[in-house]
Amino acid sequence: MDAAEWRDLVRRAVGLAGTPCYLVAEQAIEASIEELGVIRTGLPHRHWLSVKTQPVQPLLEAWRRRGFGVEVVSEYELAAALRLGFTGEAILVNGVAKHAWLSRHQIPNLNVHFDSLAEIDALKDQARALNWSLGLRCQVPNQRDLDEPEFQDQFGLTSTEAVRALMTLGDAGLKLRGLHFHIGTNVQTADQFQIALNHLHAVCQDAEFTPEYVDIGGGLPVTGEKPVGADRATPPIDLEQLGEVLATVPRLFPTVRELWLENGRFVSARAGVLVVKVVDRKERPECSYLICDGGRTNHALVSGWEVHDILLEPEHDGPTRLTTVCGPTCMASDRLGRWQLPTTLAPGDLIIWMNAGAYHIPWETRFSVGLAPVVWCDLTRRLVLARKRESPEEWSASWTNSKPLGSP
Ligand SMILES: Cc1ncc(COP(=O)(O)O)c(C=O)c1O
Repeated sequence: MDAAEWRDLVRRAVGLAGTPCYLVAEQAIEASIEELGVIRTGLPHRHWLSVKTQPVQPLLEAWRRRGFGVEVVSEYELAAALRLGFTGEAILVNGVAKHAWLSRHQIPNLNVHFDSLAEIDALKDQARALNWSLGLRCQVPNQRDLDEPEFQDQFGLTSTEAVRALMTLGDAGLKLRGLHFHIGTNVQTADQFQIALNHLHAVCQDAEFTPEYVDIGGGLPVTGEKPVGADRATPPIDLEQLGEVLATVPRLFPTVRELWLENGRFVSARAGVLVVKVVDRKERPECSYLICDGGRTNHALVSGWEVHDILLEPEHDGPTRLTTVCGPTCMASDRLGRWQLPTTLAPGDLIIWMNAGAYHIPWETRFSVGLAPVVWCDLTRRLVLARKRESPEEWSASWTNSKPLGSP
């Protein structure tokens, strides 16, 4: 979607919901899925929606209408998926330490990717009783802590653990169907996927295991975002090259019948924007400060490490000045960023922070204010209020009048 289309939608969304607000457009979700269509492996591809990335009801509903399933990593996401009518076959449970909560839910035919040997021990009887379809998340060698790359991270089973897991499951009369990895976020090059696939191949050889599917997780980057301090944007991954890498799957795993993908950022980041309104302006020697009704602390935590493109509505031209765009909270760090912006920007103008469709709503805070509304634009360009603004009264409504614990 181009800037003019976003501006048009933003004007209508702000008329409906006010500011600050999030706006999510189904058309841009569709475009991302179409982009992924250039990847051809000769296998059917199953796209799971990463619910934690963008938990918005009409998005889950649109996904279900497409016939795709949802990937959940918590009891809360599972409850939301069930409430919207997803059945076990259409839900994939990922994430760590699921045995802490999944035993509370007796859902038949669920897809579950085990993440540890302890999970398997705790859940294997339930898995058999409820006919779950099972996979293992493997720790791959290039799965690194981004800030401290000398460390790996906490996810998945090592090769030795994966071989043991296969034996334990076999002894319990359970059949494993698939292997899964998720390298991490913003994977820059297609060869990273080859490293991970080769690792899964070695696990299969060691364990004499023949999977029915391979799940390559998510991790694809998008345009329009760059790390704070970087002088250029993160380049998009070459999808043709990724296609060539993924085309090795049928050769590496001849029994595989499906490729599973779980892209969060790639599918939804570009499909959402955050709209904030300028409410005050201060001139200082070092720069101008715009105080807006939304910002980093409440709505765009990622602005601490990512710079996104912005649009101004209405458009302004003329002389510019270094300008810090701040949010409304009493936190000095509450700022979306610093840009050279027109000196005519004034209270009432809108700032549109692009690529707010992934990891914004899930990291939204209620620091001093309530949750912002979410407006959904469907394929017919009809706007729907997907979530209403939380009122000041609702903000404190869960307070309990400090009743002593145990009192009736
Ligand atoms: C298991 C798993 N799948 C999918 C995703 C989505 O990742 P991304 O938004 O980078 O595509 C994540 C993100 O953390 C994840 O942990």
